[in-house]
Amino acid sequence: MRDDVEVLASVDALADAAARRFVAAAGAAIGARGEFIVALAGGSTPRSTYDRLAEPQYSSSVDWPRVQVLWGDERCVNPESPKSNYAMAREALLDHVRVRKENVHRIHGEDDPAAEAIAYEQVVRGVLKTPAGAPRRANGARIDLVLLGLGEDGHTASLFPASTVAGGGERGLNALGNGAHRAVASGGDDARWVEAVFARATAMWRVTLTPVVINAAAEVVFIVSGDAKAAIVRRVLDGPRVPHELPAQLIAPAAGRVRWLLDAAAAAALS
Ligand code: 6PG
Repeated sequence: MRDDVEVLASVDALADAAARRFVAAAGAAIGARGEFIVALAGGSTPRSTYDRLAEPQYSSSVDWPRVQVLWGDERCVNPESPKSNYAMAREALLDHVRVRKENVHRIHGEDDPAAEAIAYEQVVRGVLKTPAGAPRRANGARIDLVLLGLGEDGHTASLFPASTVAGGGERGLNALGNGAHRAVASGGDDARWVEAVFARATAMWRVTLTPVVINAAAEVVFIVSGDAKAAIVRRVLDGPRVPHELPAQLIAPAAGRVRWLLDAAAAAALS
């Protein structure tokens, strides 16, 4: 087993481990510079982690007014929709802790996807104090912790196979939903940090951070559970590197660390 993979006995133990990682990362960042910048994951898996973080045992260990909250991606739905990643995090965690309203930077899924991608990139650039150019790897100018999930097709955030947006120094294509594609720049100064993507599988527009800004993070933690993910976990971690097919393999912070937190079911196919 690789040293960046931790297997937990159950979903509950996984939620505890993820909550502990969050608390540790927050404590280190706030201790060092008085601020913690986190990008929350969407989907259903992280909900148990957010529920755990809202419990006093964990919530009392985070200086919430010093936390800046971003999202790794959002579905283009209203913020009250049960499909909204913001709604899930708000219900499970943010409504239960003293995070400052002005520090909760949700992606406006209700707005035009392409316009929101441009707007949210400015929000992220503001939080990371980098108005222009490539992401910096200095603490305070990068996300301290990015939480990610893993789809059964190898996607993460809204970086989907074949129509993966660019980043990580590789040219990519941004599916515009009508079959058209727009080549987007590689990981240079002009690379986009946020893109709008049409997710064919769910016929839904999404707005996502790109690998360029995720790979500048200090730490990325994948939280994966359930036997349905065992095969894709093995392909992503133990299989050949085919990032165009398995976008989760695009995630490789140049000056940060990736951790995989798996429950036993999701890790069952690993060598
Ligand atoms: C989303 C997430 C997506 C998710 C995976 C896993 O908006 O859905 O960003 O990348 O993490 O699809 O989803 P589950 O946790 O629901 O299995």
